[in-house]
Amino acid sequence: MNSLKRIPVLAANWKMYKTVGETREFLHVFLPMVDKLSEREVIIAPPFTALSAASEILKESELVTLAAQNMYFEQKGGFTGEISSIMLKELGIKWVILGHSERRHIFGEKNSLIALKVKSALENDLLPILCIGEKLEEREGGLMHEILERQLSAGFSEVSSAEADKVVVAYEPVWAIGTGRTATPDQAQDAHIHIRSWLTGLFDSDIAGQIRILYGGSVKPENINELMALPDVDGALVGGASLKPESFSQIVSCRTS
Ligand code: 13P
Repeated sequence: MNSLKRIPVLAANWKMYKTVGETREFLHVFLPMVDKLSEREVIIAPPFTALSAASEILKESELVTLAAQNMYFEQKGGFTGEISSIMLKELGIKWVILGHSERRHIFGEKNSLIALKVKSALENDLLPILCIGEKLEEREGGLMHEILERQLSAGFSEVSSAEADKVVVAYEPVWAIGTGRTATPDQAQDAHIHIRSWLTGLFDSDIAGQIRILYGGSVKPENINELMALPDVDGALVGGASLKPESFSQIVSCRTS
């Protein structure tokens, strides 16, 4: 596998936290803390309302880019409350998180909808961060691999080999999100290997070796280096510990090789 070619990704998902003012405050403290870093991509996903202000502040940053936390697959129309890819592109947004477990389990998003969103993101030059992950009862019932495969199979259903490496996969076991219970290194590596071998079956080992697979779920400064040391973990998607500049800067400064 071409693990050397995979540039690590450290991504912050702020969920429904931070006003525009709080976003500005965060960035003004955070950016000087990380400005010497290289050989990694840092992504921040603030709420929609703060994207414009964040984009203005990050215009000059070579390290940090922005993600939206969601989008709809149509470009415009009668879809009250939704945001489209062209609206995100206008703000200079590079990435979009799709299929987060909170979208799946609180807002009822189905694999079929997420598939349309991934397709639409790629068609409109946004890079998808496709989130997948099993619930505790699914893991305990021996269904983990089947659930991941179903989510991957939908998420990649409209992705060609040529654009496959534009997709970043985030493995976020639902039982580890916001619970303080991180997957053990063995559990994370096992899931990541499974995901990569499924991708090898869909594409081939060269392409699967280029797709970045992030781990998410109670990532913090204390466990990031252990996770990043795993051969198939190419970065992290961080919730709670990304809300403070001090802790997210420590995560972003992790060892990357
Ligand atoms: P926590 O890091 O708070 O567990 O959240 C993970 C997550 O959902 C990131 O998308």
